Amino acid sequence: MGLHHTYRLIAPVYDAFIRRASAGVRAASLARLPANAAARVLIAGIGTGLDAPHLPPGNRYVGLDLTAAMLARVPRRDDLALVRGDAMRLPFADRSFDFVVLHLIVAVVPQPARCLAEAARVLKPGGRAFVLDKFLRQGERAPLRRTLNALSRHVATRLDVVFEDALAAAPALAVESDEPALAGGWFRSIALVKRATSSSSTRR
Ligand SMILES: C[S@@+](CC[C@H](N)C(=O)[O-])C[C@H]1O[C@@H](n2cnc3c(N)ncnc32)[C@H](O)[C@@H]1O
Repeated sequence: MGLHHTYRLIAPVYDAFIRRASAGVRAASLARLPANAAARVLIAGIGTGLDAPHLPPGNRYVGLDLTAAMLARVPRRDDLALVRGDAMRLPFADRSFDFVVLHLIVAVVPQPARCLAEAARVLKPGGRAFVLDKFLRQGERAPLRRTLNALSRHVATRLDVVFEDALAAAPALAVESDEPALAGGWFRSIALVKRATSSSSTRR
């Protein structure tokens, strides 16, 4: 069963479990977006749109998700276009976004490195990506999470992703800030910037 099947089942109850716990860190992450900047902003894996209330006005937003049932719950607004697609194979041109929001998606997809490489590809040089997710530290054993991962990776999320390992696939992206967000630092809020001199294309 693919993730889009399980998220179709999760969609009706997703907000009840995630909204309150994530509201504060979500707001803090998105406070880095400028207002009234006419920026192009991609929200990869937008889910039910819990980011939407925190998006400042005056930009052009694109929300992408694999699961139609999640997209169907996104609050409609004139400045937000919705696209069904794969965060590991984005249907957008190189250097077409000023910002990419990656909230609870990098550790969800089967290949986090491809997700970051695609974000790097579609970002303009100097553009920024905002990651919010749960990551293991390099060398962290975390036996319970690694055991649970055998099931969870197929139904909701991976639990074994080391952020630094995934980032190695996107050398155009540099870490600008990396802060603990939730659960004693298991969840981290990470800002990445695309190096101004990097070549645009990291596609396979
Ligand atoms: C944990 S939810 C996060 C949703 C939202 N970003 C949030 O912060 O609440 C993960 C979302 O990723 C979507 N998803 C899973 N695999 C995907 C992929 N390969 N490409 C795009 N979206 C994907 C799921 O459908 C689901 O909506």
